[in-house]
Amino acid sequence: MTIDWLDVKSRIYAPYSNMQDMAFVSTQEGLVFPGVRVENASYPLTVSAVQAAYFSAISEGCTPVAQCHHFPDEATAQFFEKHMHLPFIEPQQIASHPHFELIMMQADTPRSTLTALLDASRPTYSHFRVSALIGNRRDGFVSGVNVELPAWSLGLCAERVAIAKAVSCNFSAFEELHVITEKGSFCSPCGACRQVLYEFNPGMEVFMHHPDGSTSRVFVRDLLPYSFGLH
Ligand code: THU
Repeated sequence: MTIDWLDVKSRIYAPYSNMQDMAFVSTQEGLVFPGVRVENASYPLTVSAVQAAYFSAISEGCTPVAQCHHFPDEATAQFFEKHMHLPFIEPQQIASHPHFELIMMQADTPRSTLTALLDASRPTYSHFRVSALIGNRRDGFVSGVNVELPAWSLGLCAERVAIAKAVSCNFSAFEELHVITEKGSFCSPCGACRQVLYEFNPGMEVFMHHPDGSTSRVFVRDLLPYSFGLH
């Protein structure tokens, strides 16, 4: 048995560069997480394959131990090798490992689901926990939590972890996003997340679950007026 790169290849979202960056991250728990490149019209917001796989694993409560690649984004892969202690392995070494299977979550009670997810977040530096759910009411939702890394700009917000995990697992029917923070007076997606949400669906509805128990609802296009996009 070999790792099925072809299956994962079709999930890559790289309409701008067409780079075929895809990766697998294996975990201490013996599971293998797929990761694909997820680009954005604003190029610094692009998530590389190893980031997508690594953050997927963390958000599922797993501990990443190794990475393998097909056409890697070299700089990011090397960062994960050197600073996150993730050695490069050959696909054959994990060919028999079970793959992570995305189980879509229901969000009938989004606030309590989001609150339970907060335990998986890794806000090492800011101590600001965030969790998110993205999807739709028919298919269900994919979770994300914020994960901070020793290189601040390589970490990701909860919203973008949910998107990277969903796309890497072949799901992108994003109609609703739910996000929660526990500190501060108002929960609201950052500018970078707004741009990434816009890339997938300007008509997506965002439910912001504030720390005081109230919720605001807004469309992505209203969160990012006069937005930049190539399509
Ligand atoms: N953060 C999110 O996860 N989502 C947001 O919408 C706002 C900010 C995270 C990023 C970082 O880990 C921490 O909160 C502080 O900025």
